[in-house]
Amino acid sequence: MKKDTARLKDLLGLEYLSRAQIEELLDQAKPMKQLFTRSVKKAPALRGKTVALVFFEPSTRTRTSFELAAKRLSADTLNIAASTSSVQKGESLIDTAKTLDAMKVDYIVLRHSASGAPHLVAREVKARVINAGDGSHEHPTQGLLDAFTIIEKKGKIDGLKVAILGDVAHSRVARSNLWVLTKLGAHVTVCAPETLIPPGLKEIFGSHVTITSHVDEAVKDADVINVLRLQVERQKENLMPSIREYAELFGLNLSRLALAKRDCIVLHPGPMNRGVEITSEVADSHQSVVLDQVTNGIAIRMSVLYWLTGHPLLDGGATAEQTLTQSEKLS
Ligand code: CP
Repeated sequence: MKKDTARLKDLLGLEYLSRAQIEELLDQAKPMKQLFTRSVKKAPALRGKTVALVFFEPSTRTRTSFELAAKRLSADTLNIAASTSSVQKGESLIDTAKTLDAMKVDYIVLRHSASGAPHLVAREVKARVINAGDGSHEHPTQGLLDAFTIIEKKGKIDGLKVAILGDVAHSRVARSNLWVLTKLGAHVTVCAPETLIPPGLKEIFGSHVTITSHVDEAVKDADVINVLRLQVERQKENLMPSIREYAELFGLNLSRLALAKRDCIVLHPGPMNRGVEITSEVADSHQSVVLDQVTNGIAIRMSVLYWLTGHPLLDGGATAEQTLTQSEKLS
């Protein structure tokens, strides 16, 4: 059967990508990482392109790593935040996006509190749109960097037992993880208080997913545990016990981690609530790969920016120098 590796105009969610497209994006991140871990961290692959970073919700990791990714590929960047833009004067998201399009930006990287906002923008603009997190829908580059980190540490995803712990109902990270991990062959156990498990997961993911509210059951023999941020702002909705009780019943601590495989790795997308969903002992342990995720986020975002150009893929087996030369020829 022919593999679906067609390039898309936009990256809106991992739900819409084939396994082959995901594998291309992950493979392409390897030479990107090689490139930016040398002393001269730049390649000219996106020289002359402009990347607009439109963040209408707070972000540390995603915004800065997209900016670094764009700059390391020699693109120009613009930063637009709701608090300092004409959104404050009532301008709509679509009008803001069309304004950027009229300025001939090549990419709009959008974070927005409304699920589906990047999809609406993508229909209205020529620029390539990348979803940097939309409401509780998807955060595709987070899903890709999590998968890349797992492959880097475990050598594969196929056949792994992955536990996702926490506020799954409100988590775009959980959704993008579920799509990428199940497409790449992992078995995912989702664990949260019953009120924080969204309906319909079984219908969508079938036998690839197990759902439980018992953390010990979820982490037993796990190869990977991905801990989600407890969205404490949801506390007022009475969807969970108190934060103290949540930490006791659902937080990942060393004794729970000991139930997993000895070489189990722990991921967290950040920002972490230490002492709530994860203890500092776990967050700072040798099994934690949280800072590897941050580093890999730049490589994945370089890969996504480059992939959307439609240029031939860089050679994953090439050295950083060969990659640089190849991307120079393409620019
Ligand atoms: N993981 C993540 O999206 O972090 P930021 O909110 O800091 O971008």
